[in-house]
Amino acid sequence: MSMQPAAKLSELEPNEPTRVEVDGVPVCLVRVGDDVKAVHDTCSHQQWSLADGMVWGNGVECSKHGSTFDLDTGAPSSLPASKPIPTFPAEVDGDVVRVDVGAPTNDAPFPDHD
Ligand code: FES
Repeated sequence: MSMQPAAKLSELEPNEPTRVEVDGVPVCLVRVGDDVKAVHDTCSHQQWSLADGMVWGNGVECSKHGSTFDLDTGAPSSLPASKPIPTFPAEVDGDVVRVDVGAPTNDAPFPDHD
């Protein structure tokens, strides 16, 4: 796979998680300044959308039970989640945000999702 258009930078609120779909994969985007970070949107604990949560520092907190996942490594910083989530390369080209869900930047298993 390759980089696919995922969103417009101008439509992403800074430090607000946003759910998009890229090639059928739910992705949580977080704008950090003029960069964007992309992680799988599904919590590794109970298949909850991480975009329903909040951004704390460099992590996104699941609104269901409070585990926070690092936006660069996908690792959870606290229980109840114990497994990482996939992280994806993202690039910004003008106002276009692209994500490659076929080339995760870690080796986390893809969580089940609806
Ligand atoms: S569903 Fe995310 S921490 Fe439980």
